[in-house]
Amino acid sequence: EKGGFDHFMLKEIYEQPRAIKDTFRGRLRPNEGIIKMAGVDQNLERLLNANRIIIAACGTSWHAGLVAEYIFEDLARIPVEVEYASEFRYRNPVITDKDVLIAISQSGETADTLAAIKLAKERGAFVFGVCNVVGSSIARETHAGAYTHAGPEIGVASTKAFTTQITVLTLLALKLAQEKGTYSKSRFREILTEIEGIPHKVEKVLESNPLIEIIAAAYKDASNFLYLGRGYNFPVALEGALKLKEISYIHAEGYPAAEMKHGPIALIDEHMPVVVIATKKGHYEKVVSNIQEIKSRKGKIIAVVTEGDVQVRELADHVIEVPECSESLSPLLTTIPLQLLSYHIAVMRGCNVDQPRNLAKSVTVE
Ligand code: F6R
Repeated sequence: EKGGFDHFMLKEIYEQPRAIKDTFRGRLRPNEGIIKMAGVDQNLERLLNANRIIIAACGTSWHAGLVAEYIFEDLARIPVEVEYASEFRYRNPVITDKDVLIAISQSGETADTLAAIKLAKERGAFVFGVCNVVGSSIARETHAGAYTHAGPEIGVASTKAFTTQITVLTLLALKLAQEKGTYSKSRFREILTEIEGIPHKVEKVLESNPLIEIIAAAYKDASNFLYLGRGYNFPVALEGALKLKEISYIHAEGYPAAEMKHGPIALIDEHMPVVVIATKKGHYEKVVSNIQEIKSRKGKIIAVVTEGDVQVRELADHVIEVPECSESLSPLLTTIPLQLLSYHIAVMRGCNVDQPRNLAKSVTVE
């Protein structure tokens, strides 16, 4: 049942090329230059007339929402707010019938997310769901939606659900961008073709697994970790830290790299591993100077870089390469090494990676 893998989590990490492909297959038509999504096509007016998009979710799904904020604003030029469902539902939020709420949930059963949907509906918003479990409560409660086709996710720590959520949200943003005309036709075709190439690039990233295992062995006894990223890769830093906390019980925090000097830099010494996402297209030079700041305080640097990088390689203690890609698609690649790093550290610490203590796969109570 684990398909030859030691744990469901590892199996599910390795399923990502297939899961991402299944999620865009049938929706993406690069030759025709279109994206087909039934739930979007049938509600196009409502989605295009949105004054803003509110994204509500919890945990890893909330991180996918943060990535989506960058995508929607950058590509479709629609203002986005990302909300913890638990805060949103109790805040008496300002919602109008011009708002669109996107609810993201792997299980489709998360109590707080479900309550946020009901509230938004009562106040006239149009509600669009991004769920993995077909026929789940959230899938039924939303006006329309698009499923991720990740397949069953058994490991409690979410992996393939996250990358497939990002895939669906990217398609949705691109489709709205195309309808709004905020994106040039040629660039649109180019990015559709690039999406088609992502599963192969994810496979390339997975080839770094033996190297990541070596890095894991060097830091498995650390008691703290920092994760840093900027732009599209800031939410990836948050997600990397969450994965490590959940399954290895090591304290970890994710930060936007530039926020480091506003506090967390005080934590850095020779015992602090810092995972930095430093790919070429995302504010690279600025991240390099953040890395220099860490190095001068003797922090240990584990960097996720673009293939062929030289500058960061000279500074970092370890580099993990990912293939080159557009910044907007990079989270689909940069997330993978962080999942593997957490996995190996947790295994080496003797933790139950598929069923971490105190956690449930679907949180049906608030
Ligand atoms: C993290 C994790 C949780 C879930 C969160 C939301 O690995 O699994 O943080 O992401 O409980 O669950 P869903 O997506 O089912 O609403």
